[in-house]
Amino acid sequence: MNIVLIGSQGCGKGTQAEMLARETGMIHISTGDLLRHARGSLKKEIHSYIDKGNLVPDELIIKLIKIKLKETKSKKGVILDGFPRDILQAEQLNKITKIDAIIEIYISDKEAIRRIMNRWNCPKCGLTYNLISNPPKSKGICNKCQTKLVQREDDKEDAIKKRLFIYHKETEPILKMFKLYRVNGELDINKVHKEITGIVKGMSRVILIL
Ligand code: AP5
Ligand code: MG
Repeated sequence: MNIVLIGSQGCGKGTQAEMLARETGMIHISTGDLLRHARGSLKKEIHSYIDKGNLVPDELIIKLIKIKLKETKSKKGVILDGFPRDILQAEQLNKITKIDAIIEIYISDKEAIRRIMNRWNCPKCGLTYNLISNPPKSKGICNKCQTKLVQREDDKEDAIKKRLFIYHKETEPILKMFKLYRVNGELDINKVHKEITGIVKGMSRVILIL
């Protein structure tokens, strides 16, 4: 079973994908994380896009996700977080892998900005915290691996505004291309998780209406 989580910045794609992966054994593939962890000759080019809040070119992300899917061995399936993000990527989706459901998590822009300004991440194990809704037990330290938490380069105010602008312009139009399941991302984290697991347990094959 393969699913896509889609939604604006800070809607909880990463948080929910982590929870679902832990519970089901599915593999969480975040294109944002793949790009942030890129090494070697592409690293500088990738950061010239992502640090300012711009999308990386389609050819690059499609190549990257194909490689990642090929090397991912999972009997339980994958959770795609951050792909697709524009019309060209949406058109490629079902050619790249079989998708069983696309779940949109929706929140307002005001909530997106509030969450992202308060987000801290563990650079070692990848856990995400929020100073308001999900703080670490010790200030600035990961609960799981005790690493010092960091903020993302693209979580500065100018980059957040640009990312939201691009979401509405490039990503929102693709929502019309699929039969979606929709979840209110402004509910608390555990309630959103419950909604998503309910969908995953009862879902039928997605219909692509390109
Ligand atoms: P990416 O890393 O995917 O960033 P994003 O889409 O902007 O989403 P975020 O990771 O910011 O938010 P999220 O939805 O994962 O929320 P989270 O769970 O962290 O992409 C980064 C960049 O990479 C892009 O800008 C682009 O440059 C590039 N890129 C990636 N994919 C690409 C593609 N396909 N094509 C081209 N370029 C691509 O939660 C946010 C905060 O809220 C956390 O602090 C969390 O604790 C908290 N929180 C979560 N849920 C709740 C809740 N229900 N209530 C209260 N707080 C909550
Ligand atoms: Mg994320």
